[in-house]
Amino acid sequence: MVYDRVLGVRQFAEKFGAPESEVAEIVGTDIDAAGLKYRLLEKAERDALIVSVLTRIDSGDLTVVGAARHRLWSDVWQECLENFIRNDHDVEALNPRFVGASRMLRLNGDYAEAESTRFEVDLYGIVRKWLFHRWLGGYSNIFEFGSGSAFNLVALARQRPDASIHGLDWAQGAVDLANVLREKLNLNLHGRSFDFFKPDYSLDIPVRSAVMTFCALEQTGERFTQFLDFLLAKQPARCIHMEPIVEFYDPATLPDTMALRYHLRRGYLNGLLTRLRELEEKGRVTILDARRLGLGSLYHEGFSVVVWEPVP
Ligand SMILES: C[S@@+](CC[C@H](N)C(=O)[O-])C[C@H]1O[C@@H](n2cnc3c(N)ncnc32)[C@H](O)[C@@H]1O
Repeated sequence: MVYDRVLGVRQFAEKFGAPESEVAEIVGTDIDAAGLKYRLLEKAERDALIVSVLTRIDSGDLTVVGAARHRLWSDVWQECLENFIRNDHDVEALNPRFVGASRMLRLNGDYAEAESTRFEVDLYGIVRKWLFHRWLGGYSNIFEFGSGSAFNLVALARQRPDASIHGLDWAQGAVDLANVLREKLNLNLHGRSFDFFKPDYSLDIPVRSAVMTFCALEQTGERFTQFLDFLLAKQPARCIHMEPIVEFYDPATLPDTMALRYHLRRGYLNGLLTRLRELEEKGRVTILDARRLGLGSLYHEGFSVVVWEPVP
């Protein structure tokens, strides 16, 4: 196979809507080290892939997100915690299994095959580092809700050693992971239990804090409003979401129709951007960025970004 295309600094600069020089300075070394090579699919293999994706969507095997999945996530992060400890606290053991599950990916609105199984995890790291640089500079308290394996928390703690970083999740294993990381790796991390469906208003979010979610609010489907109301009440200075944003899909294209079907079948996040736009009309929030990066895994695009601030 010839993997004749590559995601380089220029492509990331276009996706981020940022100057190439700045992208090169912040993530150029990571982009070069990752060597993100891929190839587009021939018609027959693309057709076969589409049939296999449709078969999976229609199989009836896909689980629907929501409150019933608490047990599943608890088991996932408990196992991750035990694996992390068994592996001598090696942070590589924190890379979640669902990132990079297939070398078949979504790129620029179509399918592609990555050369390496690390493609998606490296891509994730590059996008995340850029987002931290672009949107989180200057905030000394940063909260990730739905922090899972804590691999985002570790990356942020290393990039921003000056900041106090909080990982919140409804799964105890995820909370424990953040706290074990503080003790074993001496990082400024703090784990705490939190449920999007029953937000804990006793949580203190200091003035000038930032909030972020990565592929986590997706799990609330249409029930994101309790959390949004919580944020509006707590008034963090800035909120960043990297989530599958259903409003970005174009049902006139086949790959987007497939992602849309998958998204709806799984019951993923639905209506956040629309609601934020309504709130913006009413003068209650300011949307700083709403950006489709055109990157995703086989079934959908998790790399869409929405950044907003509550109006005090
Ligand atoms: C796909 S994982 C993403 C984890 C991490 N943010 C990442 O980037 O890998 C979704 C996360 O959301 C958490 N989650 C799902 N429903 C939740 C809820 N109702 N309240 C809090 N966390 C929840 C899960 O435990 C899991 O850690």
